[in-house]
Amino acid sequence: MARLPIRPRRNRTSDAVRRLVRETTLAPSDLIWPLFVVDGEKQPIGSMPGCFRLPRDLLVEEARQAWKLGIPAVALFPALPDTLKDPLARESANPDGLLQRAVRDLKEAVPELCVITDVAMDPYSSDGHDGIIQDGRILNDETLEVLATMALSQAQAGADLVAPSDMMDGRVGFIREALDEAGHTAVGILAYSAKYASAFYGPFREALDSAPKGGDKQTYQMDPANLHEALREVFLDVAEGADIVMVKPALPYLDVIATIRANVELPVAAYQVSGEFAMLKAAGQLGWLDADAALLESLVSIKRAGADMILTYAAKDVAQAL
Ligand code: PBG
Repeated sequence: MARLPIRPRRNRTSDAVRRLVRETTLAPSDLIWPLFVVDGEKQPIGSMPGCFRLPRDLLVEEARQAWKLGIPAVALFPALPDTLKDPLARESANPDGLLQRAVRDLKEAVPELCVITDVAMDPYSSDGHDGIIQDGRILNDETLEVLATMALSQAQAGADLVAPSDMMDGRVGFIREALDEAGHTAVGILAYSAKYASAFYGPFREALDSAPKGGDKQTYQMDPANLHEALREVFLDVAEGADIVMVKPALPYLDVIATIRANVELPVAAYQVSGEFAMLKAAGQLGWLDADAALLESLVSIKRAGADMILTYAAKDVAQAL
């Protein structure tokens, strides 16, 4: 026998001991479920197995089940027909728009559920960009009014948290002021603070048919190569009044999550995006790995890196498994 007084394996001997020494746990209360809503029939999303564009009645049903499973929040994304898209995203301010109706339905059916709405032009934009375009340039300040009007309309419909996601400048402060002036002081801001110009958003853009018609999003979303810049963005959002800051995507950016967690007091969210989800599902369908196990492992890793909450398309399945 080797003389080995120190044997780390002792703490891995049994399930009971492993549970005692486990440093990170995943619970349904850590999860936010992103959901797609549509006017019309339930439609499968090809690149996101198990995900659908849902009509409002089914959306409410799913949200009710999620709430029962212990999931505290859903994040809503409207899938609109091209006929409702224009360069100024006007439909985003329609008090009877699809998203606003969906929020009202949810708050009526499951009032305690936290409803999060995305504040960005792209689902409503005929250009597929997050800002107003002039001569091929994405305008920063001119887009602010559109976003403030959109956020107010969402708050009016009953949103608990609005989530500016376009990665342009001055969003959080401008929206905070607009909400406060209208008396919506209790509506929080979940800031997409460090959102990267990522290839992992592909399936989401299929879901909403929202891919940019021209160019890409590199003049507003962050360069995947940058970490210090993420901190700069987070500090700005904190100063402007964000309530929660977010990193997106999640798994390829665990260092960003960890760095932000170590540097701010606010809760940190991470978004396991459509491409991360699709990769695991696809490999699972090919029989190349156990997708459910790999999903759980990814989510635990995202939490271990420092995320306090995770947006994941697998939220309901994971909550069920837990
Ligand atoms: C749009 C938005 C995107 C996602 C969330 N909000 C796409 C984009 O920036 O092009 C992506 C989410 C995902 O891929 O799951 N502002």
